[in-house]
Amino acid sequence: MNGRAGGTGMIDIHTHILPGIDDGAADWEHSIQMARAAAAEGITGIIATPHHYDGKYSNDKETVIELVAELNSRLSELAIPLKIQTGQEIRIHSEFLSNWQSGKLLTMGESPYVLIEMPSSQIPKSMEQVVYELRLLGVRAVIAHPERNAEVVQNPDRLAELVELGAYAQVTTHSLLGGFGRGIEKSAWTLCRRGLIHLVSSDAHHLEWRSFKMKEAYERIESELGPVWRRYFERNAQAIWNARELSDQPNLVQQAAKSGGWGKIKSLFGK
Ligand SMILES: [Fe+2]
Repeated sequence: MNGRAGGTGMIDIHTHILPGIDDGAADWEHSIQMARAAAAEGITGIIATPHHYDGKYSNDKETVIELVAELNSRLSELAIPLKIQTGQEIRIHSEFLSNWQSGKLLTMGESPYVLIEMPSSQIPKSMEQVVYELRLLGVRAVIAHPERNAEVVQNPDRLAELVELGAYAQVTTHSLLGGFGRGIEKSAWTLCRRGLIHLVSSDAHHLEWRSFKMKEAYERIESELGPVWRRYFERNAQAIWNARELSDQPNLVQQAAKSGGWGKIKSLFGK
């Protein structure tokens, strides 16, 4: 099966749809219910990103690959118009780079983008080095829901530093729509307006309390930020699905050209 089929529609790059391996879908029945709900919203492609190394769940790449193959085959049998690609939501940990180099970690689909989760309380000291070293290896870190990280909420410049080093950031639909409370909602929109968000996804865990809401979030983005930003986020999710480069931000293209760019950043590290 071509894993990238479905990549021209709405793509969700961060989900917990695989059955029984983390705090997402409990079993195959729930996985299929989630898939039906996603397809009904107009989602055509989902990257399955179970928790990995978060202190509670460990889901090695072989398990993910096997379950994604089975889910795709069940969806096909049930004629549900949705494709799944492999991924992991990897908590930053001390052996991250060595595990990466020994091939133990998954990117999102066949792309050079890897989904990284920080603890909710702070930004670990190793984040800068991991983002930077990955970039040297041709891989880009995508930081999962920074709007829920206490240090970023307090000081968005901390996220801006990671973005300058080469990280991208993903905001969660529920955060934008107020599902995690007013403070997180405010933080999510602040980061969007500062140009520190590159991707929107559901981080869907459950149909009742944490479902997809991709369509609703994109509609809110269109009304708050304009259709250009909606298209930017939609295109970036498709770019990850299809292993292509992300787009330049709508009104930040000129700013990027003016800044010293990557050469300036490298000189900070003496490399
Ligand atoms: Fe997640």
